[in-house]
Amino acid sequence: MSASSFRAFQAVTTGDAAERGVTTVAVADLPDGALIDVHWSSVNYKDALASTPSGKVARISPIVPGIDLAGVLAEDAGGLAAGTEVIAHGYDIGVSRHGGFAERARVPVEWLVPLPPGLTMREAMVIGTAGFTAAMSVVALEDHGVRCGTGPVLVTGATGGVGSVAVNLLAQRGYEVVASSGKAGAHDYLRSLGAKDIVERDTLNQAGGRPLDAMTWVAAVDCVGGQTLANVLSRISYGGAVAASGLTGGAQLPTTVLPFILRGVSLLGIDSVQTPIERRRAVWHRLGSDLKPTGLADIGHDIGLDELDGVLEGILSGAITGRNVVDVRR
Ligand SMILES: NC(=O)c1ccc[n+]([C@@H]2O[C@H](COP(=O)([O-])OP(=O)(O)OC[C@H]3O[C@@H](n4cnc5c(N)ncnc54)[C@H](OP(=O)(O)O)[C@@H]3O)[C@@H](O)[C@H]2O)c1
Repeated sequence: MSASSFRAFQAVTTGDAAERGVTTVAVADLPDGALIDVHWSSVNYKDALASTPSGKVARISPIVPGIDLAGVLAEDAGGLAAGTEVIAHGYDIGVSRHGGFAERARVPVEWLVPLPPGLTMREAMVIGTAGFTAAMSVVALEDHGVRCGTGPVLVTGATGGVGSVAVNLLAQRGYEVVASSGKAGAHDYLRSLGAKDIVERDTLNQAGGRPLDAMTWVAAVDCVGGQTLANVLSRISYGGAVAASGLTGGAQLPTTVLPFILRGVSLLGIDSVQTPIERRRAVWHRLGSDLKPTGLADIGHDIGLDELDGVLEGILSGAITGRNVVDVRR
C-alpha cells in the first residue's frame, strides 16, 4: 500500500460475465467519506451476488465488493479522532460504492459505528452483517415476547453466516435450538454451536404441505425464505413468531393467511441494510456485551484477498460453512 493506492479485490462486469481478482486501486477513485485503513472484512451471501452479474446486486462496475469492514480512521472525521477503530456495514457499502475487500475505504461518517467495548475488529467481522442480522432477529423475537423455556426455536440455513450466529446466540440465552441444515457433515459443528436437535433441510423445503401442520416450534429465525419459510410458518405454535431475513431458498412465499389468522403467528421482517444508525450502534453495543456470541474463533475462518474468488463461488453453491473473515493485509 502506498499513500495514493492500495490492494483491492475487484469485480468488473461486461454483459453476462465478470472478471474478478486482486488489483491496485487509487485512493482518488474512492467515493467521498472518512478514509479508513481497513484491517478486516468478511464474506456474506450478498458479496457473492455483488460479484456476479446474475446476482443483480452491484450497481457500479468496477466494484470492490465487501458489505462489511472494520478498520482504523486514517484521519479525523465528524468528531472521531484519527486512529479510532470503527465498523461499517450496510447502506450502499459494497453495492453502489466500493466496500471492504480492500486495504482502504471511504465511508460517510454518519454510517460509522465506533468499535464497541468487548470486541476486537476481527471479532466484529466474524459477526459482521450476518451476525448483526442474527442478533436483530433474536432481539425481534424477544421484543415480540418469545422467551426461553417455552419450547424449541428453529434456525434455518443453520450452517450459514446468519444461521450459525443465531444458533449460538439462542443457545447461549438458554433456548432449546433446533437447527435445519442441508449439510449432513455439519451436525457436530451445529451441536458445538449449541443446537440440541437437527432437521434435514429437505424435510422443510418440499411443496404440497398442509397450510396448518403440527405445532412444533415456538419461534424461528429464518434466512432461507421460499417454500421453507411457508412450511415453517405452518408449524409455529400459537402466538409464535418467525424473524425472516433471507432468500437463499427463494423469494416467493407460497403460504396462506391461516397461520396468521388462526394461530396468531407473526412474521417479523429483518433488515440490516437501512437500519438507522442509532439502532445499529445499540445492537453492536449488545453484540459486545450481553449478546456477544461465544466461540467466535471457531466460527471464523481467516482468508486473504487472494482466496476470495473461490470462497465467493462456494457461497453461491451453498458449500460454505461458517464465516470467512478477510484479513485484507495478509
Ligand atoms: N435481511 C438482511 O438484512 C440480511 C442480512 C444478511 C443476510 N441476509 C440474507 O440471509 C440469507 C443468508 O445469508 P448468509 O450470509 O447467512 O448466507 P450463507 O452464509 O451463504 O448461508 C446461507 C445458508 O442457507 C442454506 N442454503 C443454501 N442454499 C440453500 C437452498 N437452496 N435452500 C435452502 N437453504 C439453502 C445453507 O445452510 P445449510 O446448508 O445449513 O442448510 C447456507 O449455509 C441470504 O439470503 C442473505 O441475502 C439478509
